[in-house]
Amino acid sequence: MDDRQLYEREEPIGLGARALARLKADVAAGDTSPGGLLLYRGAAGFGKTSLLGRLRAAVNTDRGAQILLFARATEQQQGAPFHVARSLLQPALANLHEADRREMFGGWYDIAAPALGLTPAEAGSPADPTGVQEALSWVMTQLAVRQGPLLVVVDDLHWADAESSQWLASYVGQIQHLPMLVALAYRSDELEPSLDDLLLREVRELGTRGHSVELQKLSPNAVEAMVRTRLGEDADDVFCRTCWSITNGNPFFVTSLIDRLSEQDVPPIEESQDQLRALAALSGARDIGRRLERLGTDVQRTAFAAAVLDIPFDLELISRVAGLPFN
Ligand SMILES: Nc1ncnc2c1ncn2[C@@H]1O[C@H](COP(=O)(O)OP(=O)(O)O)[C@@H](O)[C@H]1O
Ligand SMILES: [Mg+2]
Repeated sequence: MDDRQLYEREEPIGLGARALARLKADVAAGDTSPGGLLLYRGAAGFGKTSLLGRLRAAVNTDRGAQILLFARATEQQQGAPFHVARSLLQPALANLHEADRREMFGGWYDIAAPALGLTPAEAGSPADPTGVQEALSWVMTQLAVRQGPLLVVVDDLHWADAESSQWLASYVGQIQHLPMLVALAYRSDELEPSLDDLLLREVRELGTRGHSVELQKLSPNAVEAMVRTRLGEDADDVFCRTCWSITNGNPFFVTSLIDRLSEQDVPPIEESQDQLRALAALSGARDIGRRLERLGTDVQRTAFAAAVLDIPFDLELISRVAGLPFN
């Protein structure tokens, strides 16, 4: 896990730590509405995964009192119904004996067990998604009540399959009286707006146990501190300021730019500005390259065709050059 210092994130880190401590204290005190919800919303690279990492680490260092359910949605699995729900719940259930599982799932067993991949799916038509959602809710609630307090963490919710994200967004409406803290991170501009609205409404409903943080870009001062810590205290003001402006304060870009600068021993002074800009452009290109690799050969070929042509974007022409059907 990435344990580098997070600049200008004291508020979200503190919020997570306090919410978790409060859950534990409330449950120990017999409070009947201990449930909480924490949303980390922000653009790519703004620190969502790192913040969730801090929260997860707090559970790991204090085993016994809480259990952790964790899932991370990925772009590749977005089309697989209930994929995120399965990766969230399966590990906590996989080593239960069949009889205990049957007892815990009760009347929902025949729907929940195959939906969670714990038993082979029945041949024939797939289970009705509403029924699966109810079954999953039952299982989650049972886990919280029997083994809680529970910390439920989902990263990159904007990439979750529609079935899982709808289920989770509606399930958080039930957590108030349950011993659990649900922490979700997502790109607010990429999550289905109706789900974002639903989650924000739930945060308000939960009062002091609901939290939403919209992560902000780093200030010039934070970038200056990062540059000086990594590249030397003598880094000059113009250099630091340029690092901020070309990365627009995006923590991921700042971090990768500083990594490159450090690898190449670029002196952190005003005179290095051209080199700085060239490196920034290069690391931007490398990220695009990596992203393209993940998207498969059709997308790569289209992108290369577009790059080679270097003319105003003409999809039909690009498709022909890339050797892909145009439609
Ligand atoms: N506030 C911050 N201060 C310093 N580095 C940060 C900060 N936020 C993120 N980073 C760094 O940027 C990179 C991307 O962060 P990450 O948590 O993966 O962002 P996200 O999940 O929002 O895309 C990581 O290397 C992380 O260490
Ligand atoms: Mg992330």
